Amino acid sequence: MLKLISPAKINLFLKVLGKRSDGYHELSSLFQTIDLVDILTFETAHEDSVICTDSSIPTDETNLVLKATQLFRRKTGLKLFLKIYLEKKIPVQAGLGGGSGNAATTLWAMNQLAGKPAQTQQLQNWSSEIGSDIPFFFSQGTAYCRGRGEIVNSIPSFPSRSCWIVKPLTGLSTPEVYKTLNKGPLLEQAENSQTQTDLDLFLKKPYYYNELENSAFEINPQLKALKLELQESGFDTVVMTGSGSSFYCFGDGMPPARSDVIHYPAVFFNRTPSRWYEFTETV
Ligand code: C5P
Repeated sequence: MLKLISPAKINLFLKVLGKRSDGYHELSSLFQTIDLVDILTFETAHEDSVICTDSSIPTDETNLVLKATQLFRRKTGLKLFLKIYLEKKIPVQAGLGGGSGNAATTLWAMNQLAGKPAQTQQLQNWSSEIGSDIPFFFSQGTAYCRGRGEIVNSIPSFPSRSCWIVKPLTGLSTPEVYKTLNKGPLLEQAENSQTQTDLDLFLKKPYYYNELENSAFEINPQLKALKLELQESGFDTVVMTGSGSSFYCFGDGMPPARSDVIHYPAVFFNRTPSRWYEFTETV
């Protein structure tokens, strides 16, 4: 049996460079893991199964953890099956990468339980086949990502920073947000020259932004109102993460105490190279 933490992520900046011929969007984005986590327990079994604390999450093969077990068997040829207990705390349709982190955690766990037949780099490469955001979780938690998100360049972690994650009860569908963006085709020039500059600019003087915000606001105008409300409460940074619908907030504000909005305190959370994400005494 193996019990592992599966963290959420936020996008400190997210730029959309253009739409690619394969339908995906080319991104330039800085990802950071946070200590809002799910807990996954893995046991070897005769067949795969998932038990989840959140009954709204499907436990059939559409669940990314089962896509991950299938992927691992396909790549390694091993006949290893898992019973997975998913203790969900990360909200879904939130832009927090909960499902992607769960898939990465499953691949890591399965590799451990199989006696480590694969390198972490291989798990990372394989994982892009089942989702654009999954490879990021094999970094140590801070990475500059390009392509459709799957080209991961780890960078040193930042000093820990606390934030609030604020999520309205209504979620957003990732494909719908990208579709609403209605972005023109990718210019090759943008792909090659602009991207490194985005990271350099951020490292010189952090500027938090997300170019998917406007399409999310178009789909659900209440999100824009919530952003304004959070800014007015005193937060100096309020930015949507991923394709929404949650925001991360830095500064001295307070999330609204309303039944249609949930909020979580969080801090940046990284892992050490040879271990998976874990809480230490100081966290
Ligand atoms: O890769 P993933 O399955 O997470 O992507 C879900 C959907 O989000 C894709 O089918 C696509 O519509 C959209 N997407 C995109 N560009 C990206 C990532 C996702 O258009 N870079």
